[in-house]
Amino acid sequence: MSAAHDGTGRAARRRFATLGRSVALFRAFLVEQSDPDHFYGLLAQDSVRQVSGYVPLAGRTVLDVGGGPGYFAAAFRAAGARYVGLDPDVGDFSAAGDSVAGMLRGSGTALPVRSGGVDVTFSSNVLEHVAEPTRMLDEMVRVTRPGGVLFVSFTPWLSPWGGHETAPWHYLGGDRARRRYERRNGRPPKNRFRETLHPTSIAQTLRWARGNPEVELLDALPRYHPWWGRWVIRIPGVREVASWNLLLVLRRTGAEPGGAAEKTELAGGRVAM
Ligand SMILES: C[S@@+](CC[C@H](N)C(=O)[O-])C[C@H]1O[C@@H](n2cnc3c(N)ncnc32)[C@H](O)[C@@H]1O
Repeated sequence: MSAAHDGTGRAARRRFATLGRSVALFRAFLVEQSDPDHFYGLLAQDSVRQVSGYVPLAGRTVLDVGGGPGYFAAAFRAAGARYVGLDPDVGDFSAAGDSVAGMLRGSGTALPVRSGGVDVTFSSNVLEHVAEPTRMLDEMVRVTRPGGVLFVSFTPWLSPWGGHETAPWHYLGGDRARRRYERRNGRPPKNRFRETLHPTSIAQTLRWARGNPEVELLDALPRYHPWWGRWVIRIPGVREVASWNLLLVLRRTGAEPGGAAEKTELAGGRVAM
């Protein structure tokens, strides 16, 4: 099936990334605490549609690093993928009512998965929670088969949401924002600066991608923006704030064991950055 007909390709990605979609995501984000099922369910479905704009998922093995509460499992499986979630926190698996079957307990920095065993490696909003983000990225590359595709998204530290529940006070310093949160709420935040939340930047992540011969950078975009807002990613400095959340799309380089017929069809080709 050609990219024009299977929902992948640049035109499909534009049709998907509308202003209405961005508004719906933002509105759901505002009720994340009071209605997590709505927010995470919508985010998972949105992510699967976004990934499907690059690569068909039916029959593909998807590893979700830091998969969290199980919402993504349902959405990827509904798209026909063979989904495996991985998270260090098993408690997170069941929040969406999913069983622990098909989930791995482990860290993204030491994946319990054989090299080249995965078609699509995916990670949503995890990198900023890991003290050694490039180690996790290297691990994701290792387990992806040559020709396979990686999707990595995260919130940069300078994003308005960079401090998570301590935002926007993180702009005055992570420690100060944490202390302020504790004073106001009588308990420490879940995302504690330099413990469970680390300052991660777009510049540093793009440098890693461009300097790694084992991956080809296919796309880098503000994950939640409409397609016409993606220009922000081209402006160093501005993009750390204005992109809100970065999505990187990478292809694992190297010889593909099954030859050309096994190649992951990647619709729309490489996007110039
Ligand atoms: C903000 S949640 C994101 C959950 C889900 N991916 C999403 O987009 O909604 C961050 C997740 O990262 C996981 N996490 C933290 N450290 C990790 C690590 N070293 N390796 C893999 N996952 C990790 C947490 O347990 C948590 O489930």
